Amino acid sequence: MSKISEGPVKGLHHITLVTSSERVNRRFYTEVMGLRRVKLSVNQDDIFHRHLFYGDENGTSGSVITFFEWPHLPSGQVGLGSPHHLAYGVKNLEALHKWATWLRMNGLRVSGPHRVGDRASIYFRDPDGFLLELATSIDGDIDEVALREMFSEEVEVEGITQDMRLSVMDHASPLATNPALLEQFLSKTLGLKRLAKRENPHDSQAVILGFGSEDHDFLRYILKPSIRVGFVGTGSIHHIAVKVESDEDQKKIMKTLDSIGIRHSGIIDRFWFKSLYFRDPFGNLLEVATAGPGYAVDEPPEALGTRLILPPWLEPERKRIEEALRLLDEQFPAKWPPIYRPAPEKPEKVE
Ligand SMILES: [Fe+2]
Ligand SMILES: [Fe+2]
Repeated sequence: MSKISEGPVKGLHHITLVTSSERVNRRFYTEVMGLRRVKLSVNQDDIFHRHLFYGDENGTSGSVITFFEWPHLPSGQVGLGSPHHLAYGVKNLEALHKWATWLRMNGLRVSGPHRVGDRASIYFRDPDGFLLELATSIDGDIDEVALREMFSEEVEVEGITQDMRLSVMDHASPLATNPALLEQFLSKTLGLKRLAKRENPHDSQAVILGFGSEDHDFLRYILKPSIRVGFVGTGSIHHIAVKVESDEDQKKIMKTLDSIGIRHSGIIDRFWFKSLYFRDPFGNLLEVATAGPGYAVDEPPEALGTRLILPPWLEPERKRIEEALRLLDEQFPAKWPPIYRPAPEKPEKVE
């Protein structure tokens, strides 16, 4: 991968999905995935439903996965506008092996290890059916047969040890049909360059194009000439947020969008960061979010995520909001442990 000059986008900021149950979701992402809840709030555009944030211990941007709780929605469908999967990075093969064991111990139906490009990966579905990947960089000479042999040996795992801890996400994979249009769009709007083009070992008609800054291709679009239109529902990605360091960089991107006639949301103050939303030409919802001020702006770092936090302009509504959330929990009882759906045998295949 070639080094390129610095653009305004510095990696992923957060990725937002839809869940059907806060209680199941919280147990999965904290107890099984070992993340920390770093904010418990409400959807600012739909204030009587929760917005849940999980990340590493410090809520580092790029580690944060968030969920809108919409229990009444049907399951989403992967396709154009509804991204395929996301991957967290893990330290090394040993940690990946431990993860496969740990997840199976917890009743998940894991697919892998697989080799996709320069990564070894395992895949599994969360309680809402969303496809997650854990990935680690590997040397050129380890093939899938060698990986499988390695993983067939038993490894002792009693819990999530320090070497297994998840932090920054490795990549998100939306879908697209036209490589030239995609490349032009991402370069023009976000200054992202195509860093890699890979075969998709799970789908001979598809390729994987990696876009990013410096040497990390954190957006790994899967391209295929013909892909069905997807829709967002439970167990699917709602939007993918990339990070800019400053308000100025965000404004610059907005001006570019205006100059080329791309509709956008305008800049919205989300209190923990500022957001700007627009869609790529294939219907995927993207967000440009500022790195600061961060999740510790309204609660001390040690107490992150422990109580319902509302931005100041929603505080007057607290009573009504809490009552609505209580009713929602009553209406949609949670079941733990969930029944996990298996991950596909060829996880990066586009159906
Ligand atoms: Fe992937
Ligand atoms: Fe967002």
